[in-house]
Amino acid sequence: MKYRICVLPGDGIGPEVVEQAVKVLKALPLELEFTYGEIGYGCYLKKGDALPEETIKKVEKADATLFGAVTTPPNIENYSSAILRLRQHFDLYANLRPCRSFPHEISQKGISMYIVRENTEDLYSGVERVEDNGNKAVTEMIITRKGSERIIRYAFELAREKNLRKVTVVHKANVLRETCGLFRKVALEIAKEYPAIEMQEMLVDACAMQLIKNPGQFEIIVTTNMFGDILSDEASMLVGGLGLAYSGNIGKEKAVFEPVHGSAPKYAGKNVANPAAAILAAKLMLEFLGEDEAAKKVGDAVMSAIEEGDVTQDLGGKLTTEQAGDAVARRIK
Ligand code: IPM
Ligand code: MN
Repeated sequence: MKYRICVLPGDGIGPEVVEQAVKVLKALPLELEFTYGEIGYGCYLKKGDALPEETIKKVEKADATLFGAVTTPPNIENYSSAILRLRQHFDLYANLRPCRSFPHEISQKGISMYIVRENTEDLYSGVERVEDNGNKAVTEMIITRKGSERIIRYAFELAREKNLRKVTVVHKANVLRETCGLFRKVALEIAKEYPAIEMQEMLVDACAMQLIKNPGQFEIIVTTNMFGDILSDEASMLVGGLGLAYSGNIGKEKAVFEPVHGSAPKYAGKNVANPAAAILAAKLMLEFLGEDEAAKKVGDAVMSAIEEGDVTQDLGGKLTTEQAGDAVARRIK
C-alpha cells in the first residue's frame, strides 16, 4: 500500500522537528511518498500568502499531512494564522490530543486520556469587529448544533473504539447560557445513543482544577475550541510538557497532524528542539491511516528512547534534535 504524505515544515523549529519525523517514517517498512509544501510566515514573505493555493492542492491530493509549526506575526493587518486557515479550509473539526504518561521522571504516572477539542468554531470563528471608535472590541463565540453534534459524536465513537467508559463534557453553561448551553444540550442528547458509556459534565474551571488534583480520573474530555486549547496545554504539563504533546486535526476527508508546540523562533536552527512531539504526531497519522502496527512501532521506539535517556536537553538528555531523531529511527524494528 502506498500513501501520499504531504509535509508542511513551516517556520522556526518546524522544519527541524518534522525532518526527524520523516526520518522515522522512512525507517518503517511502508511505502510512503512525500511531497513538501510551503506554509507560514516565511512563505508569506516570499509569496505574499501564508497558505498559497499550491499548498492547499498538495494537502488535497495527499492521504494525510504532517505539519511542523508556523510563526504568526502580531502586527500585520488581516493576517490570520496559517494553521487556523488550514483547519477552516478543510473543515478539520476534531482536534485530537492524546495525553499519556511517559516513562520519564518529569511525567506523572497513571495518566491516560484524550482531549477532543472542537476545532472550527467558538471564539475561533474569526468574526471580530471594533466599535465605538476603537473603544469596544467584539469577538463572536459561535456554537452550532452541527458543530457540537459532530465533535461530541467523535468523542463517544472514540470511547467505543478504544473501549473506554467515560466521556467528560466540559463547558461553562452556567454563564455562557446560550453557546455552552447548546453544546451541553446536544451532548446530553448524543450520550443517550451510547448507554454503555458514562457521560460526566464538568465546568471548565473545575476541570482545570481537577486536571491538577486528580488527572487519572479522565478518559476522554470533549470540549469547545478555546477551552480545549487551554486545557490541552495544561494537561501536557502533567506528562512532560510541550516537547512531547502531539495532535491531529481531523476532518471527514482530510487530516493534518502536528506537534502542539509552536515555531519557537528562539531555538530555530540550533538543533536543540525536541523532535518527539513531531514524531508522535507522525505516529497518530499512521493510526489515522489504519497502519496500527507501524504506529505501535513508532510509539514503542519513542518510549524506549525516552526510557533510556536518549533525549534532548529539555528532558535532561544530551542529544541534538538530529541525534534524538536517529535514536528513535534506529529503534524501529
Ligand atoms: C494550538 C495553537 C493554535 C491554536 C494557535 C497557534 C493558533 O495554540 O494548536 O493549540 O490556538 O489553536
Ligand atoms: Mn494551543
